[in-house]
Amino acid sequence: MVGFEYAKKSDNASNKNNLLSDAVINLDHGDPTAFEEYWRKMGDRCTVVIKGWELMSYFSDVNKVCWFMEPELENAIRGLHAAVGNAATEERYIVVGTGSTQLCQAAVHSLSSLRPCGTHPVSVVAAAPYYSTYVEETTYVRSEMYRWGGDARRYEKEEGPYIELVTSPNNPDGTMREEVVKRPQGKVIYDLAYYWPHFTPITHRPHHDIMLFTFSKLSGHAGSRIGWALVKDKEVAKKMVEYIMVNSIGVSKESQMRAAKVLNVMTETCRSHSDSFFLYGRDKMKNRWDKLREVVEQQSDDIFTLPKYPEAFCNFFGKPIGSYPAFAWLAIGCHEESDLGSLLMKQKVLTRSGNRCGSDKNHVRASMLCRDDVFSLFLHRLASITIPATDSLH
Ligand SMILES: Cc1ncc(COP(=O)(O)O)c(C=O)c1O
Repeated sequence: MVGFEYAKKSDNASNKNNLLSDAVINLDHGDPTAFEEYWRKMGDRCTVVIKGWELMSYFSDVNKVCWFMEPELENAIRGLHAAVGNAATEERYIVVGTGSTQLCQAAVHSLSSLRPCGTHPVSVVAAAPYYSTYVEETTYVRSEMYRWGGDARRYEKEEGPYIELVTSPNNPDGTMREEVVKRPQGKVIYDLAYYWPHFTPITHRPHHDIMLFTFSKLSGHAGSRIGWALVKDKEVAKKMVEYIMVNSIGVSKESQMRAAKVLNVMTETCRSHSDSFFLYGRDKMKNRWDKLREVVEQQSDDIFTLPKYPEAFCNFFGKPIGSYPAFAWLAIGCHEESDLGSLLMKQKVLTRSGNRCGSDKNHVRASMLCRDDVFSLFLHRLASITIPATDSLH
């Protein structure tokens, strides 16, 4: 897995408290440490105490399709979606997973295994630029039931069964997405990891057949490894549960209880003017995006460009707001066919090259969710880049 090699290879400064001024900063992965300060301020409100004899069983509720999901977590998930209005949970099964990474694989497995015999492998596609981990998730185990099919836009003209992964807002470029292939024999998995009001306006309440969410990008608690799927069809949900049973016999109860606690605090505080996570998160992301845009605009010769996002009315905040995505999709403006990743690496900034996301090397994905000191260093290093007119970056 290239992404994890990168994490090991680099001097992963974002994991250290004392950031050396000449350290490589790792903005390749989206480790969501930006929100630590908020949770620290919440003090003991999210503290969970688990006694030695508690949560020992594999099982949570054997009468439920997802028998390893703690009822507290299910209630907390339904409560938060109801408070935010960012997904329909009624008439839907909730499947908890060890991160939405496991759930995405469970959903692909479920949808492809429910197809009639003789219709395999199913092509798994996503419109470029896409979340590069989808490639690894669909190729790593070399399943005979599905295979990575590449860019959904290129697949539009091809025949055959397919599963389209739609990430909205999109990782890496922050745009709002809909399915592109739209053929009757297709299935769609909506990855809504970033459809929360600190990243984007909540303009509607999606009610797709399969919607994936992750605790990691919502609150920043990536280390708990909790994700959930909202699934309309019982058979699809049952197959996903079966996959998780074979894969890991359920999901850590300790993590589920911690997630339930944190989600409940988010729901309780979401309308507060002083404590709301979403208000804090939105201000933090806006502040970072404003600073990044300032640095990019101050660069002479328009070296870099960033996508522009339209304002939209956010039902959660009750007013028009902008989008402040978790990743910056940075492009090099003045040199065609340039390798922006290498240019940034010379400044000790590690990013994910656009070609890993089905795009080109003119683009990189840089995490906007690092700690403050890392983000400041990123801005400083970006601001110090100059490209002489004759310089070739090839
Ligand atoms: C679009 C998208 N889906 C899923 C994930 C993975 O989430 P988790 O940490 O729950 O496995 C990420 C993480 O970067 C993501 O960007």
